[in-house]
Amino acid sequence: MKKDFLSIRDLSIYEFSQLLDRAAEVKKNPRKYRRALEHRILAMIFQKPSLRTRMTFEAGMLQLGGEAIYLAPSDIQMGSREGAYDIGKNLERWVDGIMLRTFGHQIIVDLAASTKIPVINALTDLSHPCQAMADFMTLREHRGSLANLKLAYVGDGNNVCHSLMLAAARGGTRMAVGTPTGYEPKPEMVLAAREDGKDTGFALTLTNSAEEAVSGADAVYTDVWASMGQEAEKEKRARIFAPYQVNARLMSHAKNGAVFMHCLPAHRGDEVTDEVIDAPSSVVYDQAENRLHAQKAILLALMGKKD
Ligand code: CP
Ligand code: NVA
Repeated sequence: MKKDFLSIRDLSIYEFSQLLDRAAEVKKNPRKYRRALEHRILAMIFQKPSLRTRMTFEAGMLQLGGEAIYLAPSDIQMGSREGAYDIGKNLERWVDGIMLRTFGHQIIVDLAASTKIPVINALTDLSHPCQAMADFMTLREHRGSLANLKLAYVGDGNNVCHSLMLAAARGGTRMAVGTPTGYEPKPEMVLAAREDGKDTGFALTLTNSAEEAVSGADAVYTDVWASMGQEAEKEKRARIFAPYQVNARLMSHAKNGAVFMHCLPAHRGDEVTDEVIDAPSSVVYDQAENRLHAQKAILLALMGKKD
């Protein structure tokens, strides 16, 4: 594997599937790995809030026998008090890996280039690869395989959507993305997914119709309409995205028994209704649980002893 995990693109098709296998194995036999990262320390830098990412990286490191140190936005004030380069150069003298949640993607690229220790992307404005690994682990658990499936993503063509497209390309999963005009996924991410998925069975449909995206889907995924950092656009976006709400009517266009997915936190009553997120077909808490197992597999691959 590469030194860093900044994007799903850092994984070959083989590594993607190996990591999912490893995550399933760690989930099944957690005790086997309880010393695997003994004496290793992960620095966790957060420039945005978090429940799942912070808890699962910290609990994951502890369960692997290592430690994690949480650095809140106010602690190091990345970018104003000190830049990515100097932060990377300092941290490599004390710890064995860095996890970063930040705004611009270039910040994590700069940090990774500045340091010899592994850097893990815990969400940028561009992508959220750890989320996508947990999501594809969840899809595989519920559907048995990733091939011959249609994943529909409805809402904002954002960081989560980008990583799902790249993961679908690796996994050979068909995907349809339904967004309002002007909120489509970035063209360079669409190109990247199509390039990566040309031999895997992946196909991507982009549409402005939520119904078309969801039609015949095995899984329906949505995310918040205004991501962290877009709070000022919340009201405008609520108006634009209203037709893209995932409710029982929209779910009726999916396959019978289709699962509902969301990275969380969810804004109930906005992008998803209670009846959908609380239905038996909702797998949102499985996704949240699998953040732990998928990230333990990533931590083992990047910070474990090299054979
Ligand atoms: N899904 C996710 O990344 O959740 P947090 O923002 O709570 O970490
Ligand atoms: N798109 C959301 C995901 C949160 C996990 C955001 O960036 O805020």
